[in-house]
Amino acid sequence: PKVTWILKDGRKITADVKTGHNLMEAAVANNVPNVIGECGGCLSCATCHVYVDEAWYDKAGKPDDMERDMLEITAAERLPLSRLSCQIQATDALDGIILHVPEI
Ligand code: FES
Repeated sequence: PKVTWILKDGRKITADVKTGHNLMEAAVANNVPNVIGECGGCLSCATCHVYVDEAWYDKAGKPDDMERDMLEITAAERLPLSRLSCQIQATDALDGIILHVPEI
């Protein structure tokens, strides 16, 4: 599936992501600034924080309790569309998904 990250300055980065890869790994592999993934995706750092585009938020699924706890400590402001991108897997249903990258 195709994933697009939109940076604060309007710059877009689009990549083809392998099904099953998580969107933090995909961001790191494509040098998306500000998506760091310090903990490697084990839900203990919150440095993979993104805002899922409104049109895609429901399709991306809901954060579970552990993710919700970690969303309390994001560097950028937590908003209703906040997710930790290591918890979103690339699937065909998410082909075209847009993620907005926070300024940190
Ligand atoms: Fe650490 Fe997502 S990479 S919580």
